[in-house]
Amino acid sequence: MTPDDMKREAARAALTHVESGMRLGLGHGTTAKHFVDLLGEKVREGLRVTCVPASEFTRGQAESLRIPLTTLDDTPELDLCVDGADEIGPDLGLIKGGGGALLREKIVAAAAHSMLVIADDSKVVSCLGRFALPVEVVPFGLGATRRAVERLAERLALPPVLVLRKDADGHAFVTDGGHHILDCHFERIDDPAALAAGLATIPGVVEHGLFLGFAKGAYVAGTSGVRFIGP
Ligand code: 5RP
Repeated sequence: MTPDDMKREAARAALTHVESGMRLGLGHGTTAKHFVDLLGEKVREGLRVTCVPASEFTRGQAESLRIPLTTLDDTPELDLCVDGADEIGPDLGLIKGGGGALLREKIVAAAAHSMLVIADDSKVVSCLGRFALPVEVVPFGLGATRRAVERLAERLALPPVLVLRKDADGHAFVTDGGHHILDCHFERIDDPAALAAGLATIPGVVEHGLFLGFAKGAYVAGTSGVRFIGP
């Protein structure tokens, strides 16, 4: 089984939680893409759902599959959100945002009564931080915001190694919300809650990729099958 097959199997397992009439949040990334593909098949067979996509990419995919879409303005509460993750740590703490959609992903996940994570088993870690933490920042004042994040890292004894994410053309990556991303190479985040609290105090930081207390469970696929990680 390739890592991509594993992602699809994790997505298939999450689909068993979907019932007709549900309002769903759809995440972003290669694993979430499998979930949307499989959901599209069910919709073609008659499943009735209405969904909020967490990225313009996912919106396009869902539209092409004729999955009924809504917005959080019309549907401010969702039953379930299904999304991938870059790391799944202790207590189902997550790092997300490798695909650059963390702000909308967090808004969608926060609107959902429940969030299920889908991933291949390479994403499960004993401590968050090996994957660089994406921090979404406003372009105005980028240098000052960057310095503030570096100072916070120094205070928390984390390496202040921040890299401005670039797109394929070498320009600063721009999110769906018009922001940039600083990928923070902290290596090992022993106290994610303290880091999240610190980042929340920096004005130029729009959001960060630490998802603490969001996930209610995770389907993780490996070569020997899919397992569920619960709270
Ligand atoms: C996008 C995300 C993705 O869920 C995360 O990057 C995992 O992606 P993939 O399923 O492609 O491994 O947070 O912003």
